[in-house]
Formats: sequence, structure tokens, C-alpha cells
Amino acid sequence: MAFPIVRHRRLRQSAGMRSLVRETVLNVDDFIQPIFVTYGTGIKREIPSMPGVYHFSLDTLEEELKEIVDLGIKSVLLFGIPETKDAVGSSAFDENGIVQAATRKIKSLYPELLVVADTCLCEFTDHGHCGMVHTFEHEGHLHGDVLNDESLELLARTAVSQARAGADIIAPSNMMDGFVQAIRHGLDEAGYAHIPIMSYSVKYASAFYGPFREAADSAPQFGDRKSYQMDPANVREALREAQSDVEEGADMLMVKPALAFMDVIRLLRQEFDLPLVAYNVSGEYSMVKAAAQQGWINEQAIVTESLLGMKRAGADIIITYFAKDMARWLREGN
Ligand code: PBG
Repeated sequence: MAFPIVRHRRLRQSAGMRSLVRETVLNVDDFIQPIFVTYGTGIKREIPSMPGVYHFSLDTLEEELKEIVDLGIKSVLLFGIPETKDAVGSSAFDENGIVQAATRKIKSLYPELLVVADTCLCEFTDHGHCGMVHTFEHEGHLHGDVLNDESLELLARTAVSQARAGADIIAPSNMMDGFVQAIRHGLDEAGYAHIPIMSYSVKYASAFYGPFREAADSAPQFGDRKSYQMDPANVREALREAQSDVEEGADMLMVKPALAFMDVIRLLRQEFDLPLVAYNVSGEYSMVKAAAQQGWINEQAIVTESLLGMKRAGADIIITYFAKDMARWLREGN
């Protein structure tokens, strides 16, 4: 009697079997929802290039928070649009700054909701750079050099003021050299040794941040961020950036943007054992929204597939403007 040929069986005969053998699943616990907070009252202003994403003043934020919590989302990432900007970004480390005020409000309403504070100066400086700059004129144009070490102290102050306001996690996105160490030291000195740092370790100088810069009004007024953010052509450098963050005391690592950098996510997953975050950035959001509005793609399917890809590549946590939508879709059981 002849034996049948050994063959690989596709385990896709039924929905039950498909879910039994599924390797990657999305869970509402994976997501961090970014929120933009601003001064004033009664404000819920849609960001033109990011349909469905808004600026909230502290009063209107309440309703949004309720929706987020009701959907089962457990963490938010705060970005602030301050009333005034200056050369050093003073409102970033003002105890009554917009991010600090929003953090206190969130923690008073929902103590369990994790507040991740983005620690950077670009939303607060009049020149739009992530640190202090030395400006000079050359051939009639304004130029500037980022002052790395001088910026570190301001960033540490910002982180401490965010922790004092109640932030659960400090997420520095400024990409100055030595920022993790400086912030760790600042937090420890101020009595916040227990507050973890989610480092934007591998942050590329990316065109995908375009809509965010409109949202945060933080486009650089001269030059670009290429002197401190990474070249999209490099991946070995990503390992060095992540390695130094680990040595400096980072508790979580991040790759940003996500979609064009899946290989980097995979590599960091293989090389490091810290929780790994993928940031599904503004431009990635806007492209999907725009195509969906045209009826050219199935938004839910595209978003699900993209976020699954990030997890499959190795991300444990995903920061995404789709967090609310995804939470809703998961709840509906699709
Ligand atoms: C601040 C910061 C940026 C983003 C997060 N934190 C902008 C930038 O570096 O220009 C981008 C997020 C997004 O595009 O969704 N440094």
C-alpha cells in the first residue's frame, strides 16, 4: 500500500482553525493614543491634514478621555501646543505648561490611564528645533547650529516637570546625544527614580512627520533636523543609537516611523530585550485617511494589516492615531 505524499496542509479551512494557528494578534492593550492639547476653552479643532485628530483645550479634553477610556485604551501620549514660544522653549518646562496641566487633569479624572509625556522642545521653541540653537546669518539666510549639551539641561527640566505633574512614562523624542542619561539623572535627582524612560532611540529624519508638524506647529523655521535625526539610509547606526540608549538607562526602545522601517523594528527585536515601541506616525495616518476618503482602499483592512505587520516585525507596543478606531474594530469583533 502506497503512503500518501507528505504534504504541508494549509490550516485555513475555517475561521476557528485560522484563529487557532494565528501567530500575531492585535490587542487594545498594545496601543498608545496620541493627544494634542492646547490652551483656551471650548476648543476641538480638527487638524486639516489629519482627519479625525483634533486639538483639545483642557475642558473639551474630558469628553475625549471618556471615549478613550470607554474603548479600553490604557495609555495616551501627550503633545502640547503652548500659548507662547521662545528661543529656549520655556513653556516646555513651565510647571503650569499645557502638557503639565493636561497631565494633572488626566490623572485626576482617570488615575489608571497611563500618561506618556513627549519630552522635546520643538513645539515650544520659536525656531521649531528640538533643542537650543545658536543662530547666525550667512549670505542673507538664517542658519543655526543645535547646541546639544546646552539643550540637555532643559530637556531634563522638562522631564522632571512632567513627572511632577503625574506623567507615568517619559518619552524623549529630541534625539540630542546623551539625552537618555541626562534625563535619567534629572529624574533620579528629583526623586523620580521609578519613572521609566521610553526612548525614541531610532528616530529617522523623515518626511512622514509632515502632518504632525502642522498639528504641533513645530516645523523648523530654518534648516532641518538632519543633524540630530537619523538618515533613512542607515541601519547599523540604528543599532548604535539603541545600544547607547540602553547603556544610558532607557527602559523601552522605539523605532519611528514604522512602515518604511520594519527591518529596523525586526533588528532591534533580535538584538535587545527591552519592550519595543513602533510609532505609526502622522504621515502614515494621513495617507491612509486620504485614500480611504476617496474610497480607494478599505481603511479598516489596511490599518489592521499595517498594525499586524508592525507587531509581526517585533513591536510590543504601537503608538498610533488609529488607536481609537482599532479599539472599536476589535470590539466589534472583526
Ligand atoms: C517631536 C516629535 C515629532 C513627532 C513626535 N515627536 C516631530 C518631529 O520630530 O518633527 C512626530 C510624530 C508624528 O509624525 O506623528 N520631536
